[in-house]
Amino acid sequence: MSELAKALSAAKGRYVSGGRLAARLGLSRAAIHKQVEKLRRQGYAVTGTNRLGYRLERTPDLLVAGAVAGWPQGRAACLAVTESTQEEAKKHALAGAPEGTLVAAETQTAGRGRMGRRWISPAGGLWYSLLLRPAVAPGQVPALVLVAAMDWARVIRRRAGLDARVKWPNDVWVGGRKVAGILTEMSSEMDRVHWAVLGVGVNVNNPPPKTTGGVPAGSLAELAGRPLARQALLNDWLKEFARSYRAYAKGGFAAFRKKFESLSVLKGRTALCRTAEGVRRGKVLGVDELGRLRLKTDGNIALISEGEVRPGR
Ligand code: BTN
Repeated sequence: MSELAKALSAAKGRYVSGGRLAARLGLSRAAIHKQVEKLRRQGYAVTGTNRLGYRLERTPDLLVAGAVAGWPQGRAACLAVTESTQEEAKKHALAGAPEGTLVAAETQTAGRGRMGRRWISPAGGLWYSLLLRPAVAPGQVPALVLVAAMDWARVIRRRAGLDARVKWPNDVWVGGRKVAGILTEMSSEMDRVHWAVLGVGVNVNNPPPKTTGGVPAGSLAELAGRPLARQALLNDWLKEFARSYRAYAKGGFAAFRKKFESLSVLKGRTALCRTAEGVRRGKVLGVDELGRLRLKTDGNIALISEGEVRPGR
């Protein structure tokens, strides 16, 4: 926050005269006027009158760089614009950054979704990538991502009062609309993970695209009928996920399975699964202890570990 923004914010909604600000900051009144213009361009709402001076009405909902809530070693970088936070976070991973390192961006010009899709990322959404170095076998990482999605559903329920649910493997839906998705990339040996980068996109206050990967999309603001504070949402999720991450490292997915199923869009419903092996239709029974989808098809129970699943009839 600039010195001028700090001085205006310290006045707690009262007017501060241009002369007083100029004296406090050691600048001319004309320079103060220029800086007020700059703050306005950054999204601060500042009213000004000749008689009373300036008053801060609203600070912009920008993401904050620095410490990462819940992650002792983590540092956050918040970029105004980047192609994809995944690429930025992967650079940090290769340079040896500690887990909890987070890269967020106000906008992405080449945001990426699952299955090679584009992810539209205008201002107002939450677009970030979190670096993890989990001491688990590579096969256990997908279940950890289910936990990350479930934690987002919980945060959205709490903060936005919406009926947020998880859609296997790692989407969050509200009333048939996708509001968030997670893309995971990792580097590993057969039995050891070097790093995993969790890329999370949440439509918060941005206008959502019509569809995301063929699914109707929605934003939290539109569904809740009010804008939401992005940094507060992110901090909540970071703290919640830090707790889950530690529990997961000790006991795996088993302890999360029932909770995941209780928040699932798919459980008990007929679903269409598109995997590398082909298309299958069946009834979703739930997930197993590795987070694989349990699908009942013609008397058999298939365990699905990858692919695209849609609720069907
Ligand atoms: C999905 O397809 O559902 C996953 C979407 C993941 C989007 C996020 S936004 C932040 C990070 N950077 C990217 O380029 N993609 C992920």
